[in-house]
Amino acid sequence: TKRKLWGGRFTGSTDPLMHEFNQSLKYDKRMYAADVKGSIAFSKALLKAGILNEKEQKEIERGLKEVEVEWKEGKFVIQPDDEDIHTANERRLSEIIGKDIGGKLHTGRSRNDQVATDMRIWLMDETAIIESYLKALLDVMVSRAEKEVDAILPGYTHLQRAQPVRWSHLLLSHAQSFLSDLSRLRQLVPRISVLPLGSAALAGNPYSLDRELLRQELGFQSIGENSMHAVADRDFVVEWMQWASLCMIHMSRMAEDLIIYSSAEFGFVTLSDAYSTGSSIMPQKKNPDSLELLRGKSGRVFGQMAGFMMSLKGVPSTYNKDLQEDKEPLFDCVDTISAALRIAEGVVATLNIHPEKMKAALTMDMLATDIADYLVRKGASRVPFRETHHISGRAVALAEKTSCQISDLSMDQWKDLSPHFTEDVMQVFDFETSVEKRNAIGGPARATVQRQVDIARQRIKGE
Ligand code: ARG
Repeated sequence: TKRKLWGGRFTGSTDPLMHEFNQSLKYDKRMYAADVKGSIAFSKALLKAGILNEKEQKEIERGLKEVEVEWKEGKFVIQPDDEDIHTANERRLSEIIGKDIGGKLHTGRSRNDQVATDMRIWLMDETAIIESYLKALLDVMVSRAEKEVDAILPGYTHLQRAQPVRWSHLLLSHAQSFLSDLSRLRQLVPRISVLPLGSAALAGNPYSLDRELLRQELGFQSIGENSMHAVADRDFVVEWMQWASLCMIHMSRMAEDLIIYSSAEFGFVTLSDAYSTGSSIMPQKKNPDSLELLRGKSGRVFGQMAGFMMSLKGVPSTYNKDLQEDKEPLFDCVDTISAALRIAEGVVATLNIHPEKMKAALTMDMLATDIADYLVRKGASRVPFRETHHISGRAVALAEKTSCQISDLSMDQWKDLSPHFTEDVMQVFDFETSVEKRNAIGGPARATVQRQVDIARQRIKGE
Protein backbone atom coordinates (compact mmCIF):
# COMPACT_ATOMS: atom_id res chain seq x y z
CA THR A 1 0.00 0.00 0.00
CA LYS A 2 1.13 3.50 -0.84
CA ARG A 3 1.90 5.89 1.95
CA LYS A 4 2.97 9.46 2.20
CA LEU A 5 6.56 10.10 3.18
CA TRP A 6 5.37 11.67 6.39
CA GLY A 7 2.51 9.22 6.96
CA GLY A 8 3.65 7.60 10.23
CA ARG A 9 1.55 9.59 12.65
CA PHE A 10 -1.54 9.62 10.42
CA THR A 11 -4.47 7.26 10.54
CA GLY A 12 -6.89 9.10 8.26
CA SER A 13 -6.25 9.84 4.60
CA THR A 14 -6.01 13.22 2.91
CA ASP A 15 -9.10 14.72 1.34
CA PRO A 16 -8.66 14.40 -2.43
CA LEU A 17 -9.18 18.11 -3.04
CA MET A 18 -6.75 18.90 -0.21
CA HIS A 19 -4.23 16.57 -1.79
CA GLU A 20 -4.56 18.45 -5.05
CA PHE A 21 -4.45 21.82 -3.27
CA ASN A 22 -1.26 20.89 -1.44
CA GLN A 23 0.57 19.30 -4.34
CA SER A 24 3.30 21.37 -5.93
CA LEU A 25 4.89 18.71 -8.10
CA LYS A 26 3.12 19.91 -11.23
CA TYR A 27 5.18 23.07 -11.17
CA ASP A 28 8.18 22.36 -8.94
CA LYS A 29 9.25 19.33 -10.99
CA ARG A 30 11.19 21.76 -13.14
CA MET A 31 13.69 21.95 -10.26
CA TYR A 32 14.44 18.25 -10.49
CA ALA A 33 18.10 18.75 -11.41
CA ALA A 34 18.66 21.22 -8.59
CA ASP A 35 17.04 18.78 -6.17
CA VAL A 36 19.29 15.94 -7.30
CA LYS A 37 22.35 18.15 -7.11
CA GLY A 38 21.46 19.24 -3.57
CA SER A 39 20.87 15.65 -2.48
CA ILE A 40 24.15 14.37 -3.89
CA ALA A 41 26.02 17.09 -2.04
CA PHE A 42 24.05 16.28 1.08
CA SER A 43 24.97 12.60 0.86
CA LYS A 44 28.63 13.63 0.87
CA ALA A 45 28.11 15.59 4.06
CA LEU A 46 26.39 12.53 5.56
CA LEU A 47 29.39 10.42 4.55
CA LYS A 48 31.77 12.83 6.23
CA ALA A 49 29.60 12.81 9.36
CA GLY A 50 29.69 9.01 9.43
CA ILE A 51 25.95 8.56 8.82
CA LEU A 52 26.63 6.89 5.48
CA ASN A 53 29.54 4.67 4.57
CA GLU A 54 31.33 4.97 1.23
CA LYS A 55 29.31 2.22 -0.38
CA GLU A 56 26.00 3.72 0.71
CA GLN A 57 26.96 7.20 -0.47
CA LYS A 58 27.97 5.79 -3.87
CA GLU A 59 24.66 3.95 -4.12
CA ILE A 60 22.69 7.07 -3.29
CA GLU A 61 24.66 9.08 -5.82
CA ARG A 62 24.12 6.46 -8.50
CA GLY A 63 20.41 6.23 -7.75
CA LEU A 64 19.96 10.00 -7.78
CA LYS A 65 21.70 10.26 -11.13
CA GLU A 66 19.32 7.65 -12.47
CA VAL A 67 16.37 9.65 -11.14
CA GLU A 68 17.73 12.70 -12.93
CA VAL A 69 18.03 10.79 -16.19
CA GLU A 70 14.44 9.61 -15.87
CA TRP A 71 13.25 13.20 -15.57
CA LYS A 72 15.46 14.35 -18.40
CA GLU A 73 14.19 11.64 -20.72
CA GLY A 74 10.57 12.11 -19.69
CA LYS A 75 10.45 8.63 -18.20
CA PHE A 76 9.87 9.56 -14.57
CA VAL A 77 6.54 8.09 -13.53
CA ILE A 78 4.74 10.35 -11.08
CA GLN A 79 2.84 8.51 -8.35
CA PRO A 80 -0.41 9.86 -6.89
CA ASP A 81 1.18 10.36 -3.47
CA ASP A 82 4.15 12.34 -4.78
CA GLU A 83 3.63 15.72 -3.19
CA ASP A 84 6.49 17.77 -4.49
CA ILE A 85 9.79 17.29 -6.31
CA HIS A 86 11.56 16.44 -3.05
CA THR A 87 9.24 13.63 -2.00
CA ALA A 88 8.98 12.34 -5.56
CA ASN A 89 12.75 12.10 -5.99
CA GLU A 90 13.25 10.47 -2.61
CA ARG A 91 10.47 7.97 -3.22
CA ARG A 92 11.95 7.02 -6.59
CA LEU A 93 15.48 6.82 -5.18
CA SER A 94 14.37 4.27 -2.61
CA GLU A 95 12.65 2.24 -5.33
CA ILE A 96 15.87 2.18 -7.33
CA ILE A 97 18.42 1.50 -4.59
CA GLY A 98 16.16 0.11 -1.86
CA LYS A 99 14.72 1.68 1.29
CA ASP A 100 17.51 0.51 3.55
CA ILE A 101 20.01 2.90 1.99
CA GLY A 102 17.63 5.38 0.34
CA GLY A 103 15.89 5.97 3.65
CA LYS A 104 19.11 7.37 5.14
CA LEU A 105 19.40 10.32 2.77
CA HIS A 106 17.04 12.60 4.68
CA THR A 107 18.99 12.30 7.97
CA GLY A 108 19.44 15.77 9.46
CA ARG A 109 17.58 17.35 6.57
CA SER A 110 14.11 18.77 6.17
CA ARG A 111 12.23 19.73 3.07
CA ASN A 112 12.38 23.20 4.54
CA ASP A 113 16.11 23.62 4.04
CA GLN A 114 15.94 21.38 0.97
CA VAL A 115 13.39 23.48 -0.90
CA ALA A 116 15.11 26.75 -0.04
CA THR A 117 18.38 25.30 -1.30
CA ASP A 118 16.82 23.95 -4.51
CA MET A 119 15.19 27.28 -5.28
CA ARG A 120 18.47 29.11 -4.88
CA ILE A 121 20.38 26.61 -7.03
CA TRP A 122 17.70 26.81 -9.71
CA LEU A 123 17.54 30.59 -9.63
CA MET A 124 21.30 31.02 -9.85
CA ASP A 125 21.34 28.94 -13.03
CA GLU A 126 18.41 30.89 -14.49
CA THR A 127 20.01 34.18 -13.52
CA ALA A 128 23.10 33.31 -15.53
CA ILE A 129 20.91 32.55 -18.56
CA ILE A 130 18.88 35.75 -18.16
CA GLU A 131 22.13 37.71 -17.85
CA SER A 132 23.27 36.30 -21.18
CA TYR A 133 19.97 37.33 -22.83
CA LEU A 134 20.23 40.82 -21.40
CA LYS A 135 23.80 41.12 -22.67
CA ALA A 136 22.72 39.95 -26.12
CA LEU A 137 20.00 42.63 -26.22
CA LEU A 138 22.51 45.26 -25.16
CA ASP A 139 25.03 44.10 -27.76
CA VAL A 140 22.48 44.60 -30.51
CA MET A 141 21.46 48.04 -29.24
CA VAL A 142 25.02 49.23 -28.88
CA SER A 143 26.09 47.96 -32.31
CA ARG A 144 23.12 49.65 -34.00
CA ALA A 145 23.86 52.86 -32.16
CA GLU A 146 27.44 52.82 -33.34
CA LYS A 147 26.50 52.07 -36.93
CA GLU A 148 23.55 54.44 -37.31
CA VAL A 149 25.08 57.50 -35.72
CA ASP A 150 24.30 59.72 -38.74
CA ALA A 151 20.54 59.64 -38.32
CA ILE A 152 19.04 62.63 -36.52
CA LEU A 153 15.45 62.72 -35.34
CA PRO A 154 13.28 64.89 -33.11
CA GLY A 155 13.80 64.29 -29.45
CA TYR A 156 10.52 64.61 -27.58
CA THR A 157 9.42 65.82 -24.19
CA HIS A 158 5.70 65.51 -23.38
CA LEU A 159 5.62 63.76 -26.78
CA GLN A 160 6.04 67.22 -28.35
CA ARG A 161 8.95 67.93 -30.66
CA ALA A 162 11.70 69.31 -28.45
CA GLN A 163 15.25 69.27 -29.78
CA PRO A 164 17.13 67.30 -32.41
CA VAL A 165 19.12 64.29 -31.19
CA ARG A 166 20.84 61.37 -32.81
CA TRP A 167 18.83 58.17 -33.22
CA SER A 168 21.82 56.48 -31.61
CA HIS A 169 21.48 58.70 -28.59
CA LEU A 170 17.85 57.69 -28.17
CA LEU A 171 18.71 54.02 -28.54
CA LEU A 172 21.51 54.37 -26.02
CA SER A 173 19.19 56.12 -23.59
CA HIS A 174 17.25 52.86 -23.41
CA ALA A 175 20.50 50.89 -23.28
CA GLN A 176 21.46 52.88 -20.17
CA SER A 177 18.40 51.46 -18.39
CA PHE A 178 19.35 47.93 -19.39
CA LEU A 179 22.92 48.53 -18.29
CA SER A 180 21.71 49.35 -14.79
CA ASP A 181 19.48 46.29 -14.93
CA LEU A 182 22.58 44.30 -15.77
CA SER A 183 24.53 45.59 -12.80
CA ARG A 184 21.51 45.17 -10.52
CA LEU A 185 21.12 41.57 -11.67
CA ARG A 186 24.76 40.86 -10.93
CA GLN A 187 24.35 42.42 -7.50
CA LEU A 188 21.53 40.00 -6.68
CA VAL A 189 23.78 36.98 -7.01
CA PRO A 190 25.59 37.18 -3.65
CA ARG A 191 22.22 37.31 -1.91
CA ILE A 192 20.80 34.37 -3.86
CA SER A 193 23.97 32.42 -3.26
CA VAL A 194 23.51 31.86 0.49
CA LEU A 195 23.28 28.21 1.50
CA PRO A 196 20.30 27.08 3.65
CA LEU A 197 21.18 23.35 3.62
CA GLY A 198 22.13 22.07 7.07
CA SER A 199 19.45 24.20 8.75
CA ALA A 200 17.02 21.25 8.67
CA ALA A 201 13.45 22.15 9.65
CA LEU A 202 14.31 25.29 11.61
CA ALA A 203 16.62 24.33 14.48
CA GLY A 204 19.65 23.08 12.58
CA ASN A 205 20.96 19.51 12.51
CA PRO A 206 22.48 17.50 15.36
CA TYR A 207 25.03 15.63 13.20
CA SER A 208 27.64 18.39 12.88
CA LEU A 209 27.15 18.27 9.12
CA ASP A 210 29.97 20.10 7.38
CA ARG A 211 28.22 23.05 5.84
CA GLU A 212 31.44 24.39 4.38
CA LEU A 213 31.69 21.16 2.41
CA LEU A 214 28.09 21.61 1.27
CA ARG A 215 28.81 25.19 0.25
CA GLN A 216 31.77 24.12 -1.86
CA GLU A 217 29.98 21.16 -3.43
CA LEU A 218 27.06 23.36 -4.46
CA GLY A 219 29.08 26.42 -5.43
CA PHE A 220 27.39 28.83 -3.03
CA GLN A 221 29.16 32.03 -2.06
CA SER A 222 28.21 31.91 1.62
CA ILE A 223 26.37 29.94 4.29
CA GLY A 224 23.12 30.96 5.96
CA GLU A 225 24.05 32.08 9.46
CA ASN A 226 20.73 31.42 11.18
CA SER A 227 18.77 28.23 10.67
CA MET A 228 15.41 29.85 11.42
CA HIS A 229 16.07 32.61 8.91
CA ALA A 230 17.56 30.26 6.34
CA VAL A 231 14.37 28.21 5.96
CA ALA A 232 12.08 31.25 6.05
CA ASP A 233 13.91 33.74 3.90
CA ARG A 234 12.38 34.39 0.49
CA ASP A 235 13.87 37.85 0.00
CA PHE A 236 15.86 36.50 -2.92
CA VAL A 237 12.59 35.57 -4.66
CA VAL A 238 11.03 38.98 -4.00
CA GLU A 239 14.15 40.84 -5.05
CA TRP A 240 14.45 38.86 -8.22
CA MET A 241 10.87 39.65 -9.18
CA GLN A 242 11.41 43.29 -8.29
CA TRP A 243 14.42 43.24 -10.56
CA ALA A 244 12.36 41.66 -13.33
CA SER A 245 9.55 44.19 -12.84
CA LEU A 246 11.91 47.10 -13.32
CA CYS A 247 13.62 45.50 -16.30
CA MET A 248 10.18 44.89 -17.85
CA ILE A 249 9.26 48.52 -17.25
CA HIS A 250 12.33 49.48 -19.24
CA MET A 251 11.39 47.10 -22.04
CA SER A 252 7.86 48.45 -21.97
CA ARG A 253 8.98 52.05 -22.30
CA MET A 254 11.29 51.25 -25.17
CA ALA A 255 8.48 49.29 -26.80
CA GLU A 256 6.17 52.26 -26.42
CA ASP A 257 8.66 54.53 -28.23
CA LEU A 258 9.02 52.06 -31.07
CA ILE A 259 5.26 51.53 -31.36
CA ILE A 260 4.75 55.26 -31.74
CA TYR A 261 7.67 55.62 -34.15
CA SER A 262 6.41 52.75 -36.30
CA SER A 263 3.00 54.36 -36.86
CA ALA A 264 2.50 55.94 -40.29
CA GLU A 265 2.23 59.35 -38.62
CA PHE A 266 5.86 59.08 -37.51
CA GLY A 267 7.27 56.45 -39.84
CA PHE A 268 10.74 56.53 -38.27
CA VAL A 269 11.04 52.76 -38.00
CA THR A 270 9.52 49.68 -39.59
CA LEU A 271 9.32 46.41 -37.71
CA SER A 272 10.43 43.33 -39.57
CA ASP A 273 7.74 40.87 -40.59
CA ALA A 274 9.23 38.39 -38.15
CA TYR A 275 7.97 40.45 -35.21
CA SER A 276 4.71 41.78 -36.63
CA THR A 277 1.32 40.27 -37.25
CA GLY A 278 -1.54 41.05 -39.59
CA SER A 279 -5.23 41.71 -39.15
CA SER A 280 -7.90 39.13 -39.82
CA ILE A 281 -10.10 41.76 -41.45
CA MET A 282 -7.92 44.64 -42.62
CA PRO A 283 -5.51 43.34 -45.26
CA GLN A 284 -3.22 46.37 -45.14
CA LYS A 285 -2.43 46.07 -41.42
CA LYS A 286 0.98 45.28 -40.01
CA ASN A 287 0.77 45.45 -36.26
CA PRO A 288 3.63 45.70 -33.76
CA ASP A 289 2.31 42.88 -31.57
CA SER A 290 5.76 41.96 -30.33
CA LEU A 291 6.19 45.41 -28.81
CA GLU A 292 2.65 45.49 -27.47
CA LEU A 293 3.26 42.19 -25.71
CA LEU A 294 6.48 43.48 -24.19
CA ARG A 295 4.48 46.41 -22.88
CA GLY A 296 1.56 44.26 -21.74
CA LYS A 297 3.60 41.56 -20.06
CA SER A 298 5.36 44.12 -17.88
CA GLY A 299 2.09 44.37 -15.94
CA ARG A 300 1.99 40.64 -15.49
CA VAL A 301 5.50 40.46 -14.03
CA PHE A 302 4.79 43.29 -11.63
CA GLY A 303 1.57 41.53 -10.61
CA GLN A 304 3.39 38.30 -9.78
CA MET A 305 5.81 40.24 -7.61
CA ALA A 306 3.07 42.14 -5.80
CA GLY A 307 1.04 38.95 -5.32
CA PHE A 308 3.88 37.08 -3.65
CA MET A 309 4.75 40.04 -1.45
CA MET A 310 1.18 39.92 -0.17
CA SER A 311 1.52 36.19 0.49
CA LEU A 312 4.67 36.79 2.51
CA LYS A 313 3.70 39.61 4.73
CA GLY A 314 1.83 37.82 7.49
CA VAL A 315 3.80 34.58 7.61
CA PRO A 316 5.08 33.71 11.12
CA SER A 317 8.68 32.68 11.74
CA THR A 318 10.39 29.86 9.84
CA TYR A 319 8.63 27.60 7.38
CA ASN A 320 4.91 27.78 6.71
CA LYS A 321 3.23 26.35 3.66
CA ASP A 322 2.46 29.86 2.40
CA LEU A 323 6.07 29.85 1.26
CA GLN A 324 5.26 27.26 -1.38
CA GLU A 325 3.48 30.14 -3.12
CA ASP A 326 6.90 31.52 -4.08
CA LYS A 327 7.25 29.15 -7.00
CA GLU A 328 4.56 29.88 -9.56
CA PRO A 329 5.12 33.66 -9.51
CA LEU A 330 8.88 33.30 -9.73
CA PHE A 331 8.74 30.70 -12.48
CA ASP A 332 6.29 32.83 -14.41
CA CYS A 333 8.49 35.92 -14.05
CA VAL A 334 11.57 34.00 -15.17
CA ASP A 335 9.75 32.55 -18.17
CA THR A 336 8.17 35.84 -19.13
CA ILE A 337 11.28 37.95 -18.91
CA SER A 338 13.44 35.36 -20.60
CA ALA A 339 11.08 35.35 -23.60
CA ALA A 340 10.70 39.13 -23.47
CA LEU A 341 14.45 39.75 -23.57
CA ARG A 342 14.89 37.52 -26.60
CA ILE A 343 11.94 39.09 -28.39
CA ALA A 344 13.25 42.58 -27.64
CA GLU A 345 16.64 41.55 -29.00
CA GLY A 346 15.04 40.22 -32.18
CA VAL A 347 12.89 43.30 -32.69
CA VAL A 348 15.79 45.70 -32.23
CA ALA A 349 18.12 43.60 -34.37
CA THR A 350 15.75 43.43 -37.32
CA LEU A 351 13.89 46.74 -37.41
CA ASN A 352 14.55 49.18 -40.24
CA ILE A 353 15.09 52.85 -39.60
CA HIS A 354 14.11 55.60 -42.02
CA PRO A 355 16.55 58.48 -41.57
CA GLU A 356 14.85 60.56 -44.28
CA LYS A 357 11.54 60.37 -42.39
CA MET A 358 13.32 61.30 -39.18
CA LYS A 359 14.90 64.26 -40.95
CA ALA A 360 11.57 65.33 -42.43
CA ALA A 361 10.10 65.48 -38.95
CA LEU A 362 12.68 68.00 -37.81
CA THR A 363 11.36 71.55 -37.81
CA MET A 364 13.32 74.77 -37.48
CA ASP A 365 11.47 75.81 -34.33
CA MET A 366 13.25 72.90 -32.64
CA LEU A 367 16.32 75.14 -32.86
CA ALA A 368 14.71 77.96 -30.85
CA THR A 369 16.83 76.93 -27.86
CA ASP A 370 19.90 77.19 -30.09
CA ILE A 371 18.86 80.77 -30.94
CA ALA A 372 18.70 81.58 -27.25
CA ASP A 373 22.10 79.92 -26.76
CA TYR A 374 23.46 81.90 -29.74
CA LEU A 375 22.48 85.18 -28.11
CA VAL A 376 24.04 84.16 -24.81
CA ARG A 377 27.38 83.94 -26.58
CA LYS A 378 27.02 87.28 -28.39
CA GLY A 379 28.94 90.33 -27.27
CA ALA A 380 31.31 90.75 -24.37
CA SER A 381 28.54 91.39 -21.87
CA ARG A 382 26.61 88.12 -21.83
CA VAL A 383 22.86 88.47 -22.18
CA PRO A 384 21.16 86.42 -19.45
CA PHE A 385 19.62 83.20 -20.81
CA ARG A 386 16.27 84.04 -19.25
CA GLU A 387 16.19 87.09 -21.52
CA THR A 388 17.49 85.36 -24.65
CA HIS A 389 14.89 82.62 -24.10
CA HIS A 390 12.25 85.32 -24.18
CA ILE A 391 13.66 86.91 -27.35
CA SER A 392 13.83 83.56 -29.11
CA GLY A 393 10.26 82.89 -28.03
CA ARG A 394 9.22 86.11 -29.67
CA ALA A 395 10.96 85.01 -32.87
CA VAL A 396 8.94 81.77 -32.79
CA ALA A 397 5.73 83.75 -32.27
CA LEU A 398 6.61 86.12 -35.11
CA ALA A 399 7.25 83.23 -37.48
CA GLU A 400 3.99 81.64 -36.45
CA LYS A 401 2.09 84.91 -36.98
CA THR A 402 3.57 85.45 -40.43
CA SER A 403 3.18 81.73 -41.34
CA CYS A 404 6.84 81.17 -42.00
CA GLN A 405 9.61 79.13 -40.47
CA ILE A 406 11.76 80.78 -37.84
CA SER A 407 14.71 80.41 -40.22
CA ASP A 408 12.86 82.50 -42.83
CA LEU A 409 12.80 85.66 -40.69
CA SER A 410 14.64 88.58 -42.30
CA MET A 411 17.71 90.22 -40.86
CA ASP A 412 15.60 93.32 -40.14
CA GLN A 413 13.19 91.21 -38.15
CA TRP A 414 16.05 89.65 -36.17
CA LYS A 415 17.56 93.09 -35.48
CA ASP A 416 14.16 94.25 -34.29
CA LEU A 417 14.05 91.40 -31.84
CA SER A 418 17.55 92.15 -30.53
CA PRO A 419 20.42 94.30 -31.78
CA HIS A 420 22.81 91.44 -30.86
CA PHE A 421 21.70 89.36 -33.85
CA THR A 422 24.10 89.44 -36.81
CA GLU A 423 24.20 87.65 -40.18
CA ASP A 424 25.74 84.51 -38.63
CA VAL A 425 22.41 83.74 -36.95
CA MET A 426 21.58 81.79 -40.09
CA GLN A 427 24.29 79.28 -39.22
CA VAL A 428 22.23 78.24 -36.21
CA PHE A 429 19.66 76.62 -38.49
CA ASP A 430 21.44 73.36 -39.05
CA PHE A 431 20.45 70.24 -37.16
CA GLU A 432 23.83 68.55 -37.43
CA THR A 433 25.50 71.65 -35.99
CA SER A 434 22.97 71.80 -33.18
CA VAL A 435 23.60 68.20 -32.19
CA GLU A 436 27.37 68.47 -32.53
CA LYS A 437 27.46 71.49 -30.22
CA ARG A 438 26.15 69.26 -27.48
CA ASN A 439 29.39 67.42 -26.93
CA ALA A 440 29.73 67.57 -23.17
CA ILE A 441 29.75 64.11 -21.55
CA GLY A 442 26.31 62.56 -21.96
CA GLY A 443 25.39 64.69 -24.99
CA PRO A 444 24.14 63.57 -28.41
CA ALA A 445 27.22 64.64 -30.41
CA ARG A 446 29.06 62.03 -32.44
CA ALA A 447 31.99 61.83 -30.02
CA THR A 448 29.84 61.58 -26.93
CA VAL A 449 27.69 58.91 -28.55
CA GLN A 450 30.83 56.92 -29.32
CA ARG A 451 31.93 57.41 -25.73
CA GLN A 452 28.65 55.87 -24.58
CA VAL A 453 29.17 52.96 -26.95
CA ASP A 454 32.67 52.31 -25.60
CA ILE A 455 31.64 52.54 -21.96
CA ALA A 456 28.57 50.38 -22.57
CA ARG A 457 30.76 47.67 -24.10
CA GLN A 458 32.96 47.65 -21.01
CA ARG A 459 29.98 47.43 -18.71
CA ILE A 460 28.48 44.56 -20.72
CA LYS A 461 31.74 42.68 -20.25
CA GLY A 462 31.54 43.44 -16.54
CA GLU A 463 34.53 45.81 -16.41
N1 ARG B 1 6.76 21.85 -1.50
C1 ARG B 1 7.20 22.60 -0.36
C2 ARG B 1 7.49 24.02 -0.78
O1 ARG B 1 7.56 24.28 -1.92
C3 ARG B 1 8.41 21.96 0.23
C4 ARG B 1 8.57 22.14 1.68
C5 ARG B 1 7.51 21.49 2.42
N2 ARG B 1 7.86 21.37 3.79
C6 ARG B 1 6.95 21.03 4.69
N3 ARG B 1 7.33 20.88 5.87
N4 ARG B 1 5.70 20.86 4.35
O2 ARG B 1 7.67 24.91 0.04
